[in-house]
Amino acid sequence: MPVLSANSLCYTYGQGTPYEKHAVRGVSFAVEAGEIVGIIGHTGSGKSTLVQMLNGLLRPQSGTVLLNGEDIFADPKRMRACRFQVGLVFQYPEYQLFDETVEKDIGFGPRNMDLPEDEIARRVRRAAAVVGLPEELLAQSPFDLSGGEKRRAAIAGVLAMEPRVLILDEPTAGLDPRGRATILEMIRAYNRQSGAAVLFVSHNMEDVAALSHRVLVLDHGTRAFFDTPRAVFAQSEALAGMSLAVPAVTRILDGLAGQGIAVTPGLYTVEDAAAEILRLRKEGERPA
Ligand SMILES: Nc1ncnc2c1ncn2[C@@H]1O[C@H](COP(=O)(O)OP(=O)(O)OP(=O)(O)O)[C@@H](O)[C@H]1O
Ligand SMILES: [Mg+2]
Repeated sequence: MPVLSANSLCYTYGQGTPYEKHAVRGVSFAVEAGEIVGIIGHTGSGKSTLVQMLNGLLRPQSGTVLLNGEDIFADPKRMRACRFQVGLVFQYPEYQLFDETVEKDIGFGPRNMDLPEDEIARRVRRAAAVVGLPEELLAQSPFDLSGGEKRRAAIAGVLAMEPRVLILDEPTAGLDPRGRATILEMIRAYNRQSGAAVLFVSHNMEDVAALSHRVLVLDHGTRAFFDTPRAVFAQSEALAGMSLAVPAVTRILDGLAGQGIAVTPGLYTVEDAAAEILRLRKEGERPA
């Protein structure tokens, strides 16, 4: 059974007003435990709206969200449990830090779960370690941290709830390459250590290619694709029609294919692309 499934979800902002906006239109997909799913789509395609329905923050006008097979909107108790089991990290989460110390900020979620103090302390330390925040920072004010550290502290606050499904809305937006790499490694580590499912929204195709087992593509609020990165990135023309790019190495191979060279479609990692180019060279491929 999938850990989380979305069934025909629809969400309309300002329903019944002249400003009505159909943000998500009949989206279904299911995520298995331990799986990492990248969510891509042009700006305004409904990514943030969709993920906010998955932990009950937004209530769909129609459709259901099942967590371990149970409808999260069925009753308030289940909805509360869902908030703890499906952790959502917003875009630019560092703006939501507010407490006196980093330690209290990271501990805010677990404290809401009514856990004993020693368990909260243990979780705060573990989450800080996963995101690579040194212990001596825990006693400081979150406002004294660097930008990258603030982002990591905010993510640690959600990790400390030890969610079975971790959702991040553009977790690397605005970070430099090193900050980006740290966050990606952290997502991978949490996924590996906890066996939790991870969903992350991204505009960066390299990040999506590096991390995802499957990729969900949204287009104007509908599901365009939900498949392996290889199958999705083999659709570069369809993606271009949705104003989406493919990873740079895929673009290079597509360019070769455009020259009439028999390139395997949908390769998206540097390693696979290099192997493919060597293979073509060995076989003496030349433009037709
Ligand atoms: N609070 C709101 N009120 C009215 N319309 C909204 C609201 N939030 C989002 N929308 C509209 O709903 C649609 C989907 O928005 P959403 O934020 O889910 O897209 P997104 O894919 O996350 O975009 P981005 O990549 O820019 O973050 C857009 O047309 C947006 O303008
Ligand atoms: Mg968004």
